[in-house]
Amino acid sequence: MKKHLIVGAALLAVLGAGTAQAEAPAQAQACVACHGANGVSGNPEWPNLAGQHETYLAQQITAFRSGARDNALMAPFVQNLSDADIQVLAAWYAKQELATAANGDAGLVERGEQLAGACSACHGFAGKPVADEWPILAGQHATYLQNQLLAYKKGERVHPLMQAAVAKLPEKEFGALAAYFSQLQR
Ligand code: HEC
Ligand code: HEC
Repeated sequence: MKKHLIVGAALLAVLGAGTAQAEAPAQAQACVACHGANGVSGNPEWPNLAGQHETYLAQQITAFRSGARDNALMAPFVQNLSDADIQVLAAWYAKQELATAANGDAGLVERGEQLAGACSACHGFAGKPVADEWPILAGQHATYLQNQLLAYKKGERVHPLMQAAVAKLPEKEFGALAAYFSQLQR
C-alpha cells in the first residue's frame, strides 16, 4: 500500500515537471491583474479568457493591438506583443479551465433561453460554436456579454455578423441573453 503511494507521488512529480505548458508563460504576467492568474477574471466587466477558442483569442488580441478593437484598458498591454507572443498567449489561455461565471440575473435565464435560438447558428446550442474563430459565450461573465452586445449595437465594436445579429434585437433583451449564456457550462 505504502509502496503504491510512493510510486504515485513520484509519478505525479514527473508529470508535474513534464507539463511546463501548465505554467503561465512570461507574456501572461501583464494580464494577471485583470484576467486573473489562470484567465478567470474577478471583475464581471473583464472577460474570462480560460477555455476560450485559441483562434478567436489570437484574433482579438491582434485587433486590440491594431486598434481595430478599441479599448483604453487593453491597448497599453498588447501594444508591444509580437505575433509569436500572441500565439503563445492564445494557446495557453485556451487550455485553462473555466467553471461557469453565472453572475447574471437568475430570473432572466428562461427569457434568455427563448431568445438564444437566434444565436445558435454561430454560437452553438450550448453557447459553444464549432468554428474556432467564433467566441464561446458559455461561462462568460454576464456583465461583459451585455456590454459587448451594447458595443455592437452602438457600433463601437464592429463585426458584420454581430451587427446583423443585434440590429433587430432590442437592448432590453441583452440582459436576458447575457444571463442565459453566463450560466452554461464552458
Ligand atoms: C487593465 C486591465 C487589463 C489588462 C492588464 C489586460 N486586459 Fe485584456 N481586457 C480587459 C478589458 C476591460 C477587456 C474588455 C474590453 C472590451 O470591452 O472590449 C479585455 C478583453 C480582452 C480580450 C477579449 C476577450 C473576448 O472574449 O473577446 C482578450 C483576448 C484579452 N483581453 C487578452 C489580454 C491579454 C493577453 C492581456 C495581457 C497581455 C490582457 N488582456 C491584459 C482588461 C485588461
Ligand atoms: C452569423 C453568426 C453569428 C450570429 C447569428 C450571432 N453571432 Fe455573436 N458573434 C459572431 C462572431 C463572428 C463574433 C466575433 C466578432 C468579433 O470579432 O468582434 C461574435 C461575438 C459575439 C459576442 C462577443 C463575445 C466576446 O467574447 O467578446 C457576443 C456577446 C455575442 N457574439 C453574442 C451573440 C448573441 C447573444 C447572439 C444572438 C442574439 C449572437 N451573438 C448571434 C457571430 C454570430
